[in-house]
Amino acid sequence: MVVVNKTLESNNKSSNVSAVEEPKHFQRIEKTYQNNKNSDYTEKLAELGKEFNYANNSNYYWGDRDLSLLYGTPLYDAASESQKLALNHLYWVGNYNHTAVSEATTSIYNMVTNGVFRAVGGYDTLCDELDFETEQESYHIRTFQRIGFKTKMGIVGKTILGNSLYGKSEQENNWLKMLIPQPVREFFVSTQGSSPFSIYRDNTLSAIAKTMLRDNKQYYSQYLSNLEEKGEQIPAPADGLGGRIAPRYWLRFFTIHWGMSPFMACQYYSLRYTANAILKNQEYPYVRYFRDLERKGEYIPTPTAVSNYHLLDEAFHTTISQTIARDMYKDFPQPTAYEKFISGLIVYKMQQNLLGGLSGILPGRCVYDDQMLMVFYYKLLKSPLFKMETKEALDWMSKCICQEHEGYQVGLKYHQSLLELMRRLFNRLDYQWPINREMGIMANGGSISKAIQKNTKTFKEFSQLVMAQDS
Ligand SMILES: [Fe+2]
Ligand SMILES: [Fe+2]
Repeated sequence: MVVVNKTLESNNKSSNVSAVEEPKHFQRIEKTYQNNKNSDYTEKLAELGKEFNYANNSNYYWGDRDLSLLYGTPLYDAASESQKLALNHLYWVGNYNHTAVSEATTSIYNMVTNGVFRAVGGYDTLCDELDFETEQESYHIRTFQRIGFKTKMGIVGKTILGNSLYGKSEQENNWLKMLIPQPVREFFVSTQGSSPFSIYRDNTLSAIAKTMLRDNKQYYSQYLSNLEEKGEQIPAPADGLGGRIAPRYWLRFFTIHWGMSPFMACQYYSLRYTANAILKNQEYPYVRYFRDLERKGEYIPTPTAVSNYHLLDEAFHTTISQTIARDMYKDFPQPTAYEKFISGLIVYKMQQNLLGGLSGILPGRCVYDDQMLMVFYYKLLKSPLFKMETKEALDWMSKCICQEHEGYQVGLKYHQSLLELMRRLFNRLDYQWPINREMGIMANGGSISKAIQKNTKTFKEFSQLVMAQDS
């Protein structure tokens, strides 16, 4: 592996590194790649996904009780044993459904940034590792989806628990029709994808990014150029962890940075580390559970085994994220004031939208309860699992969301362990804003009273919407 690309005139200390003094992260990448290839649990995971049968696993907990939907709430206490089992299983499904979507996004960004590292040159092993990870994610995603689908069918059948917002967009369109003249409305709103306004906006943002990063144009990711040649849009996730960080047009704007500047491509890995840390924070308890069952010689439910083997693959991905985000960025010229600003903005938004709160009904989720989540619970309470009427469902939801209970305490426990994982990396990023290095917004969100206040407000709006739909 070439040590440092000669074409980059780094004003950083590492530009003086000679071929003899290879920075430690090159060895770490090499070792991680070899170990990941030798260990690789993708076939095992594919097999577990194929053989999974819900009936054979439905009478067992798949992980600790506190990793169950509604855990610690008054409704959980009142639930029957079979409902508690289902809530434990649905937590796993929800968690891994989210992970599947996030890993699909990761795969795209692996390709975006890989294009930059290949253009820089000298990072062949890293690029091979990223390609290998992308392939591994495709196996992971398929396994999660197989188990998720069969479990959901086993518990609530064809009932849709998705996130329809009760015709909210239709209501909004009606308001727009009344308030805004037709030609203006057509400029901003399109029923077929992109409106003229959104095309102007995306082109403007793209032009800003490319102008500000023009010194890096020789590193522009081949992946993005190929898309542009085909006339396709720059990818941006709508769901999963990535989709929560910012609206899609902001994400497209950020993607140009990650796909053009070597520093920014490395900076992306601090976000990927965040996804790794969120996953690890909830996946590791399943691994502990797996080991406990194994030690006692007890039956291991298939999803528990999936969590265990998935974490073994993911440990390598986490090491790679950490290595690029914490060390490798120093191989390149120090970030410009503009790059520092954008990096700060991205992480600030990520803290606000991904880590800034506490849930009362979904333990371990460091986000305030939003209407989408409330729709899901409302449908779950009306599904064959709980068979509640509208009023009963809303009354229970109010008890679970608007008052303190053990579930909030559990949420706080997971919040604190995640905060520690986050600070481990971000504390060391000297280019970051102080509030991002300290994870200040996240730390601030770790308050039960604040969460109850916020969640109660959202619930009131939600219940009014439901009542209005029902009347
Ligand atoms: Fe994965
Ligand atoms: Fe991964």
